Amino acid sequence: MKILLIGNGAREHVIVETLARSKHKPKIYSVVSAKNPGILKLSEDFVVGNVTDVELVSSFAKEKAVDFAVIGPEAPLAFGVSDALEKIGVPCVAPSKSAARLETDKSFVKNLMEKHKTPGRIISKVFADADELCSFIDSFGKPVVIKPLGLTGGKGVKIVDPKLSGQLKSNEEAKRYGKKIIEKGISGFNKALVEEKVIGEEFTLQAFTDGATVKSMPLVQDHKFAYEGDNGPFTGGMGSYSDSNHLLPFMTTEDKDAAVKVMEKVVDAMNKEGITYKGVIYGGFMLTRNGPKILEFNARFGDPEAMNVLPLLETDFVDICQAIIEQRLSKIDVAFSNLATVCKYAVPKGYPTNPVANQKIVIKNIPKDARLYYASVDQREDGLYMTKSRALACVGVDKTLEGAEKIAQAAISNITGPVHYRPDIGTAPLIQKRIKHMEELRK
Ligand code: GLY
Repeated sequence: MKILLIGNGAREHVIVETLARSKHKPKIYSVVSAKNPGILKLSEDFVVGNVTDVELVSSFAKEKAVDFAVIGPEAPLAFGVSDALEKIGVPCVAPSKSAARLETDKSFVKNLMEKHKTPGRIISKVFADADELCSFIDSFGKPVVIKPLGLTGGKGVKIVDPKLSGQLKSNEEAKRYGKKIIEKGISGFNKALVEEKVIGEEFTLQAFTDGATVKSMPLVQDHKFAYEGDNGPFTGGMGSYSDSNHLLPFMTTEDKDAAVKVMEKVVDAMNKEGITYKGVIYGGFMLTRNGPKILEFNARFGDPEAMNVLPLLETDFVDICQAIIEQRLSKIDVAFSNLATVCKYAVPKGYPTNPVANQKIVIKNIPKDARLYYASVDQREDGLYMTKSRALACVGVDKTLEGAEKIAQAAISNITGPVHYRPDIGTAPLIQKRIKHMEELRK
């Protein structure tokens, strides 16, 4: 069996690792934008190029005569890579360009949820006109969240919260920021999404789906803020944890069921619109006193969240991929080990606003029970160099959260070089803070 893997981050490293431990013993062929040593080690062959280059990906898939493709990041989906592969007879464990609008076009999902009256909706509106944005924020009157519209990797999101450093102090500042997005653009995007700021605890629900059946994975909590104590600018995610019962310490089974229902309703709404969504679906939720509300959907595994769930996957990943492709997911059991996980990301100093690039890191004395996933690094003759993004993820897996955190922390503190990370992720004081917050909200 031959599988094509597209992408070169830590998420794709854990995807390859999980495929490689399949009983089918697949040969993996990778299309990468950078030489991720973890992915290359597990690949039979690879090509370095732009992962959104439809021609490059298609011709490599043809040359290697792969049986199917797994696409890690969202950008190839937005560029039609999955459609092009399907056209040449390579099925994809990933949605089509049209279905991936769930992530790539934020107004698409908002309209879809509104039209089909799915649960979990929040108030939000897209603006291309700065005056209209300002009048909306004025008339709304409550604190808002501003997001640049487009694929910005989670960066550029700002919330009104005077208590948080690096965020917006007031709706007046939100108006100025929204205006800046529209007039100057962020990462080439000139539209801004204004959302009501919902209060609660964020969590991630990921699921496999073949368009009819949704099989959920353990819940994960990511940490989007750059600095300890949830301060600083938004990032792609600084680290994450999951608990052995597949819930989160501040959540109940009913909360999870409600989130799964939201996801099922959205997949169903897509079907009603004549769009089959298959692959992995990611729901970024806020658990509020009134239940889970959707902040965003992604058309892929989360990064870092993939590193919390895939090491626990007991069902053969290749069997799951084939069941998705053949639309018989309802026929197989998808099981995960009852273990806790903690993931901590090492990033270049200054990340995300002013990262210091091209710095060498050395990984020494990593504890044997820790797992290491390479992200935006470049393997050169004289060692491993960071780029401008997240560099290396350290993951601990254990019976308890406490044990998993200790493993991840021991690993990350052994990386030398100009790196930054959040020591607080997965620790008891931060988790207790989350539990208390939710208890207060539910009173
Ligand atoms: N962890 C956030 C994301 O994958 O988009």
